[in-house]
Amino acid sequence: MKDLEQLRARLPVLRDVTYLNTGTMGVMAEPVLEQYVEALQRVEQFGHARWDEMWSAAAAARQRVAELVGAGLEEIAFTGNNTDGLALVLASLRWSAGDRILTSDQEHPALLLPLSAVSRRHGVTVHQFTICSTPEETIASFAERLEELRPRLVAFSHVSCETGVRLPVERLVPMAREYGALVLLDLAQSVGQCRVDLRLLGVDFAAGNGHKWLHGPKGTGFLFVRRDLLDLLEPPLVGDGAVEPAFERTTAWLEGWRFRSDARRFEFGTRNPAPWIGLTAAIDYLEAIGWDAIERHQRMLVRWLHERISAIPGVRWYSALDPAYGSGMVTLGMSGRDGETLNRVLWERFQIVQRRVMVPSGVRVSCAYFTSFEDLEKLASALEQLAVRTAGVRG
Ligand SMILES: Cc1ncc(COP(=O)(O)O)c(C=O)c1O
Repeated sequence: MKDLEQLRARLPVLRDVTYLNTGTMGVMAEPVLEQYVEALQRVEQFGHARWDEMWSAAAAARQRVAELVGAGLEEIAFTGNNTDGLALVLASLRWSAGDRILTSDQEHPALLLPLSAVSRRHGVTVHQFTICSTPEETIASFAERLEELRPRLVAFSHVSCETGVRLPVERLVPMAREYGALVLLDLAQSVGQCRVDLRLLGVDFAAGNGHKWLHGPKGTGFLFVRRDLLDLLEPPLVGDGAVEPAFERTTAWLEGWRFRSDARRFEFGTRNPAPWIGLTAAIDYLEAIGWDAIERHQRMLVRWLHERISAIPGVRWYSALDPAYGSGMVTLGMSGRDGETLNRVLWERFQIVQRRVMVPSGVRVSCAYFTSFEDLEKLASALEQLAVRTAGVRG
């Protein structure tokens, strides 16, 4: 990565810890933070005196997010995080008892819980396909479940939060279409680290966030709804801003209001423009580094780490090596230590920030644009020390 030292110098957290957990939360570069804080100051100093000006600046975020994921402006709603978007789609579809939903066996509670809620409330059943070690096997599992279940909706992650596997969405969506299923894609772990083109992929609904791989403000997320499907969704909540504007507050209006025709039907009430100004700055910042450069860097790091740790006794690699089926996120395990313990020891003894994974039992390592070989060497050498200890304890 060009200018890696300079990029790292703008991330103060790296002075204290080895940060390998962008998959849970990105850290904001100082130049982005400055623009975000400045926006926040202006909001609080000027209140409504500069409100329109602030919102015109914030509106750029909708354009930037839409461009980033290959969507139209009217197809993007701002949300507070990724879960909001997933939950909104699931709560807005009109379900019938007996409808079936197909998801994967590696989903985050952010999807599993809203799925469980529709199942409880509407008698919908939720089923899983298996994410396997090769794309062909995953596609076969998906095909088998589709044929058997004929689901109304398929909902899964673009990149798995458990193993970093990147699903072959371009192959899965046309298959779902053949069976007439709608497709909801969770972009939490892909937007900002992999190219996302929702139009090309043919996805119906998608949710993403700004706080992980986009390294933007916490409290930013978005929902994509394909333009021609907007009316299929009946938002569960309504408030001022979500409906077609009217200047007379008459009884007829109160009885006859209609949702806005665009995805902003999911937004209402007073909202803070500052995080969106911050998100625009975050996207600009990464774009200046270059999306291809970021992806190349991540691939190089993952390859390097795999080679470096493959000789360490007892260390297991649970992620894809084929870069087209993988991402900058990988999961490692160590025999004799479960993920929970490994996660704790790596943090307490080595100040390495990563995330534990329960199935497969291990820890997840995120390689981001700022990750260096030295960071990964610290991880590898920590694993080596632990491997010696484990062998000693057992021997
Ligand atoms: C695949 C996946 N979906 C959803 C989420 C939840 O994202 P948020 O915290 O932005 O709602 C996460 C967070 O880790 C995730 O990994």
